[in-house]
Amino acid sequence: MTEQILKKIENKEYNVGIIGLGYVGLPLMWTFFNNGFKVTGFDIDPQKIEAFEKGKSYLKHFSDDDFKRMTGSGLVSITTDFSRIPEVDCILMCVPTPLDGHREPDMSYVVNTVETVAPYMRKGQLIVLESTTYPGTTDEIITPICEKATGLKSGKDFYVAYSPEREDPGNPDFTTGTIPKVVGADGEDALKIALALYGAVIVKTVPVSNNRTAEAVKLLENIFRSVNIALVNELKVVFQEMDIDVHEVIEAASTKPFGFMKFTPGPGLGGHCIPIDPFYLTWKAREFGVNTRFIELAGEVNTSMPHYVIKRTTEALNSRKKAVNGSKILIIGLSYKPNIDDVRESPTFVLMDILDKHGAEVSYYDPYVPVINPTREHAHWTGTRSIEWDEALIRKFDAVLISTNHRDIDYDSLREWSDLIIDTRNVYKDKELFGKQIIKA
Ligand SMILES: NC(=O)c1ccc[n+]([C@@H]2O[C@H](COP(=O)([O-])OP(=O)(O)OC[C@H]3O[C@@H](n4cnc5c(N)ncnc54)[C@H](O)[C@@H]3O)[C@@H](O)[C@H]2O)c1
Repeated sequence: MTEQILKKIENKEYNVGIIGLGYVGLPLMWTFFNNGFKVTGFDIDPQKIEAFEKGKSYLKHFSDDDFKRMTGSGLVSITTDFSRIPEVDCILMCVPTPLDGHREPDMSYVVNTVETVAPYMRKGQLIVLESTTYPGTTDEIITPICEKATGLKSGKDFYVAYSPEREDPGNPDFTTGTIPKVVGADGEDALKIALALYGAVIVKTVPVSNNRTAEAVKLLENIFRSVNIALVNELKVVFQEMDIDVHEVIEAASTKPFGFMKFTPGPGLGGHCIPIDPFYLTWKAREFGVNTRFIELAGEVNTSMPHYVIKRTTEALNSRKKAVNGSKILIIGLSYKPNIDDVRESPTFVLMDILDKHGAEVSYYDPYVPVINPTREHAHWTGTRSIEWDEALIRKFDAVLISTNHRDIDYDSLREWSDLIIDTRNVYKDKELFGKQIIKA
């Protein structure tokens, strides 16, 4: 059976199924489509299906034309109808893995998906989890649910693999197809099939021993970032006290051609991955009686950063005989990183919440986020709109706080129009202004 499947992949007669068409699933669908594969996308969100069918992109880095190319090709269809699972040869799962209210893994999306899919599975199919998760998830959740629902055996009748997604939305240097893909699997045949499938569309595949190793690879990558970001955030505070510009230090250190990797401090940690994923390991490690002290410490440092920024803002206003209470404060950049519209876990929300709590009149400007859609934790901002980019309007603010440094913003005009700018992203380099008009935070 394995040889037949490999032949099908080689001939691009292999039908790809992708579940969850968000930031990860959609680029994956695009990649298979561009390589001539037939793809069926599954999602539970009818709005996504409707937008797709109308050729209206719902992610900033895809155009309407991209969507129309897919719909018009006859190669791609998307649906909420999971009874079509038997039509596809593989099922690539790209559903959310957030934390719950107690900051523990919320596996409900993964479990619901596999429970929905499993009754429709047939012999020979490959099921791959791509969502970020703790080591053990694929073997402990995916395989048993599929085996129970189908009466089939993993590795013999169907195949199970784990391959973490390394998507970096908004990064112009990499696309899904150019980022090497780590693959673990349940058995030799599953690994061969998964490697052939990804190898057909992705520049390089990296096989590892099993699913839990592949799951651990993804967590290492994200923990590495969380810990290093925490390190430069802590150094920022220390160097600030010593009147040393942390950015100058980092730039100079980056000239070392080995043994150093550049990380940049900021107002906190955002996004769907880095603030969340490390705690998947913390949770699982408890089962083994092990503590993850680095992860906890990094989390503590990173979540303290918005409070540090507010402290700097308060001091700056105070030096102008103003209080936060009653001040008009404009925040620049709502999304968690530049040049994208993703606001998940954005520390800007925390800044807005604290300022609001202290009585400031808070507004924001973000060309990527014209209006705030409902969020679970910051529901009171729902419907708030970005202000217009207007000189008279911007001049009225007591302080401007740059939280995210989108490239399409006219920072020179902003400096002309504002008396006080709190710069958390090193937008301004003119040292003469530091501590006067520009406060680094
Ligand atoms: N966004 C990133 O940059 C990124 C990068 C690497 C890894 N990841 C990981 O990839 C996974 C997916 O993240 P994302 O950013 O694409 O999430 P997302 O919220 O953008 O997309 C998830 C999609 O899954 C759909 N969905 C939810 N439950 C479903 C179900 N039961 N059946 C079918 N569809 C369902 C949602 O409607 C949504 O369209 C997460 O585990 C995340 O940690 C994300």
